[in-house]
Amino acid sequence: LNPRDLYPERRNSRGIDLSNEFSLAALSDKLEQSGREMPVAGPMVPGLGVERKRMPVRNPADLQEIVGYCAFAVERDVRHAAREAAKGEAKWAEVPVEERAACLERAADMMEADMERLMGLTMREAGKSAANAIAEVREAVDFLRYYAVQAREMLAEAEPLGPIVCISPWNFPLAIFVGQAVAALVAGNSVLAKPAEETPLIAAEAVRLLHRAGIPESALLFLPGAGDVGAALVAAPEIEGVMFTGSTEVAKLIEKELATRLSRHGAPIPLIAETGGQNAMIVDSSALAEQVVSDVIGSAFDSAGQRCSALRVLCLQEEIADRQLAMLRGALNELCIGNTEMLHTDVGPVITQEAREMIEGHVARMEEAGCKVERVALPPETERGTFVAPTIIEIASIDWLGREVFGPVLHVVRYKRRDLMKLIDAINDTGYGLTFGLHTRLDETIRQVTDRIEVGNVYVNRNTIGAIVGVQPFGGCGLSGTGPKAGGPLYLGRLVRTGAKVALP
Ligand code: NAD
Ligand code: ALA
Repeated sequence: LNPRDLYPERRNSRGIDLSNEFSLAALSDKLEQSGREMPVAGPMVPGLGVERKRMPVRNPADLQEIVGYCAFAVERDVRHAAREAAKGEAKWAEVPVEERAACLERAADMMEADMERLMGLTMREAGKSAANAIAEVREAVDFLRYYAVQAREMLAEAEPLGPIVCISPWNFPLAIFVGQAVAALVAGNSVLAKPAEETPLIAAEAVRLLHRAGIPESALLFLPGAGDVGAALVAAPEIEGVMFTGSTEVAKLIEKELATRLSRHGAPIPLIAETGGQNAMIVDSSALAEQVVSDVIGSAFDSAGQRCSALRVLCLQEEIADRQLAMLRGALNELCIGNTEMLHTDVGPVITQEAREMIEGHVARMEEAGCKVERVALPPETERGTFVAPTIIEIASIDWLGREVFGPVLHVVRYKRRDLMKLIDAINDTGYGLTFGLHTRLDETIRQVTDRIEVGNVYVNRNTIGAIVGVQPFGGCGLSGTGPKAGGPLYLGRLVRTGAKVALP
């Protein structure tokens, strides 16, 4: 099925070409301008007048640098906001779907026009590289346009659920934050959006932009804060659904809370949870070694490994393992690690000091357990921020993997050709099922492996990251999420009442 045949009028965003020196020079100027801004943020809720103390938000690449200031919501704000969202939903649900979709499309145009400023803030607040920041803005724009087109086709007669809580992570602070909120909004729901505590500033920019694009302040409410604010939102009695992207542990807590009550229609309250992964890639002896190097380095170390889709365990057929590892080590040493202000930086910081300590703790434990650990030397300037050296750890088997390690750490196991199916079963047995990669030139292996593996997104002879909205719907199964896949044709259907009239494409 070619998405172009379904939605010929929709095009994904083009972004900025970093290999073109003219666009690079213009980008540098605009990023410098955006670096001089000092954004401030706080709750955006109608009728909430109280000024709260704003705390500094720091650049993880240089903890001395303050990026802006944010005031977090408190529990009282959440109770007020939930009541306002219930009132706001009643009005917003009456706006025809055509107009709601037009708001999203206006927002997409505004976001594209403001790409460099949004990129700059994402780079400073979340430590994203320039290439990742471009992808971030593009993905947000793509979600806006995709859900607008989908809503017109599917939701003309659908009935919204009611106020929806959207809780997002810091690793896609614009794309996932916007993707969740606008999907719920275009379906006629009101939204209480809570960004990750680490990245409230870019999320606040997005909310202001969506308001300017025509989404009423009473339909889109913003509540920055930490996990306590998220928990209070989920517990609010007015809530009719939760969209959550983050760790499996928090998804379970939310599910438990929602299980204690029913919606206003007497049904269980729906949860869309997109969570973590223990993503594997299998490389057999027929694979193209050079392509494997580029795809493994990108999958494991892009975004400093802080993608749910990132490669966590590389499985090498034993005959090629030594050679492939030698090539990977060479490539690892070529990575440019440092402050993402430098536009050519490949690997930026991890998000916080706490995240760094957790990753370093894991590496130390693996070393103590006798695993072979190889690390890249960090340049001296990285001492200013929360950097972790890209690391390769050889482990004896998949069973050694415990919880998802959310950083630039790649585990490697060797396998025998005759044990390939057992290896697939071991990967399935981790309980996670987000992304999976396979490098082989054997058609029969592709068929056997892809038939047996249980994950949301399978990638053959390429990297495992950067799913494209509307082309590669993204989401996992098992411990990795409930579905439906974001950026796919089934997503909006989950945000209206079951039994409502939804025209599937
Ligand atoms: P996290 O679960 O710690 O936090 C996610 C969000 O939940 C944050 O906004 C946080 O404030 C909030 N939160 C924390 N405790 C809460 C509670 N008790 N109730 C309600 N909300 C609460 O995750 P993180 O560290 O921000 O993000 C990284 C995780 O997200 C990784 O596991 C990664 O794999 C996953 N992730 C998944 C996807 C996907 O599409 N499957 C995409 C990106 C990230
Ligand atoms: N959608 C993001 C990716 O594919 C998480 O990397």
